[in-house]
Amino acid sequence: MINLPRGTQDILPGESEKWQYLERRFIELCTRYNYKEIRTPIFEHTEVFQRGVGDTTDIVQKEMYTFTDRGNRQLTLRPEGTASVARAYVQHKLYGQVKQPQKLFYYGPMFRYERPQAGRMRQFIQFGIEALGSADPAIDAEVIDLAMTFYQSLGLKSLRLVLNTLGDQESRMAHRNALINHFTPIKDELCSDCQVRLEKNPLRVLDCKKDCDHEAMASAPKILDYLTEDSRHYFEQVKKYLDELGIEYVIDPTLVRGLDYYNHTAFEIMSEAEGFGAITTLSGGGRYNGLVEDLDGPNTPGIGFALSVERLLLALDAERIVLPVEQALDCYLIALGEEAELKASGLMKTLRLAGLQVDKDFLAKKMKAQLKTADREKAKFVLIMGDQELEEEAVLVKDMANGTQETVSFDSIVNYLKERL
Ligand code: HAM
Repeated sequence: MINLPRGTQDILPGESEKWQYLERRFIELCTRYNYKEIRTPIFEHTEVFQRGVGDTTDIVQKEMYTFTDRGNRQLTLRPEGTASVARAYVQHKLYGQVKQPQKLFYYGPMFRYERPQAGRMRQFIQFGIEALGSADPAIDAEVIDLAMTFYQSLGLKSLRLVLNTLGDQESRMAHRNALINHFTPIKDELCSDCQVRLEKNPLRVLDCKKDCDHEAMASAPKILDYLTEDSRHYFEQVKKYLDELGIEYVIDPTLVRGLDYYNHTAFEIMSEAEGFGAITTLSGGGRYNGLVEDLDGPNTPGIGFALSVERLLLALDAERIVLPVEQALDCYLIALGEEAELKASGLMKTLRLAGLQVDKDFLAKKMKAQLKTADREKAKFVLIMGDQELEEEAVLVKDMANGTQETVSFDSIVNYLKERL
């Protein structure tokens, strides 16, 4: 027997309905906020992520599924969606469209070579949105609002929105220098990765999973103390809009996010539900005003977020929320005898074309066993067809809710069922 690869999962019937349901809810919500779907390839040129997500991030350095194809191209299974969306935005010149900002959503599998645990998979499904072309703090709030509303509309309550700003280029440079000054004297005590990070991208030191308990972390310079007036003002505006929308948040100046493209607004939504598990982040996002330019496009502001369905399902479980996905058949057909079997096939097609959910037995089971199946499938009606019914060109309809039976002619069966369902 061959098992599936580590960090992946099969989603079987009984579970897959939940995924479909969440997908539908997400699409519906995005549509209400006027976000349109974009579908990009599952693999991209590796450079998209090297340049987009950033060379010094864990994602690019350690977690990408990169391969050389038969034409000697360096390709990577997408570890996230934002860089791909920005790549497509540039390639299709979406910045030239009349409609701005471009408000886009996507969902699909992402791939990261991480150490698997609950809520951390090597293949996982992200739902995400990106708004490109606006530097209005109101859209930062809109993106956060959509994320929070999605969770809340599913019934989640133990949510915590954590907010920070990473400032503009100038704020970041000032903060960067302060970080270098802070960590350089104790450089030898940091892990080998952080020693490199300190030179290339000191912000990444704050995100280190190995050194997170080092005392120098807590006392590290905070971006909020290095913000330019503009950045400070922008952040204040975002908060005002969030207040207006009634969205509660906590400011965490240590929130830096694990991808390099961020500036200004950064946020994560955590689950505080008991039993949710070690990883508490449900989703994350932020502003990335330089990303489109990094991918050879014009200077374009952008903001977005992404969540994973895996973690969402864990949070729903932790809060004991049951999704309304139970499926029931409208009808189950039982035919007795060869001729009836044949006729039942035709009738089944008629009913299906009329929009009903219908099935029948294909294992030549006895009548009693077929009734059991109908029960298990939660069929609302059982349609029985034997010799007598054939002769009368009718079926015996059994209403499974109350056990009543009625003979209904072939001609009127569709209308009869539609009225009763
Ligand atoms: P991220 O924080 O890397 O950001 O991932 C976003 C979300 O994807 C996480 O909060 C988590 O729910 C989920 N996730 C990440 N890795 C895994 C994993 N291995 N297994 C299960 N779930 C996972 C991004 O990906 C950015 N592209 C978000 C964004 C969009 N920023 C701006 N626009």
